[in-house]
Amino acid sequence: MDRYCVFGNPIGHSKSPLIHRLFAAQTGEQLTYDALLAPLDDFTAFARAFFAEGLGANVTVPFKEEAFRLADELTARAARAGAVNTLKKLEGGRLLGDNTDGAGLVRDLTVNAGLDLAGKRILLLGAGGAVRGVLEPLLAERPAELVIANRTVEKAEELARLFADLGPVVASGFDWIDAPVDLIVNGTSASLAGELPPISPSLIQPGHTVCYDMMYAKEPTAFNRWAAEHGAARTLDGLGMLVEQAAEAFFVWRGVRPDSAPVLAELRRLLG
Ligand code: ATR
Repeated sequence: MDRYCVFGNPIGHSKSPLIHRLFAAQTGEQLTYDALLAPLDDFTAFARAFFAEGLGANVTVPFKEEAFRLADELTARAARAGAVNTLKKLEGGRLLGDNTDGAGLVRDLTVNAGLDLAGKRILLLGAGGAVRGVLEPLLAERPAELVIANRTVEKAEELARLFADLGPVVASGFDWIDAPVDLIVNGTSASLAGELPPISPSLIQPGHTVCYDMMYAKEPTAFNRWAAEHGAARTLDGLGMLVEQAAEAFFVWRGVRPDSAPVLAELRRLLG
């Protein structure tokens, strides 16, 4: 059987095996997919050992930058992201590094949520790996403006510089902005701690602004609760992004695009 896996540490909570097994069952692709706990101090050797037989892997926290360095070739979007979440063994054993996170977010926003991002004012909160990974695909949707706001402003400025050639991207501090935007995407890890980036509620135009948290949980995240309290038209969480980045990886490996909707519905059911 063709072998696939996800590398992470920790990895026990990963939903990727379930998602990919559902995709495989749905499409009739013959493959196995396991969650593998890679050692923190020797990711490279562990990954190479897997690829003696394995054909593809997803990569999650904290190995996406190491996977970027491990790859022999990079897709353009992975090169821009500076991180790899999908590895594929090519003919001859070379490893291709790709990043499907941004495509997953954009597909969740545009296809699943039905948003048109062209000409929109988008605010991205955070300037870590999660945000860097989605900048290229978001800018490809041609927003009117994309503001990256971060606690450490220098990191937002660095990202704005790195992606300036792709569209109208600017950096900001959290308290420099208060004019309403069309879409706010929370890419900080603040929700993990149940915290909120300290931004003005006036960024939300009641009944209009859509808010998206890249995190998800059983209950609405702190950010999405805050957004709903201040009248956001819709609040969305990152479960759809998770399933869509997986569907994109499945396509990279197998050349077959699974139908993500029933898989997302099943994950939502299990989460509840
Ligand atoms: P990831 O790979 O998940 O993006 P990261 O690279 O460590 O993780 O980035 C975490 C992001 O969340 C950063 O933008 C961080 O802000 P700083 O750059 O100022 O550290 C942001 N972050 C984490 N906790 C936060 C909090 N409580 N409030 C606001 N921003 C927070």
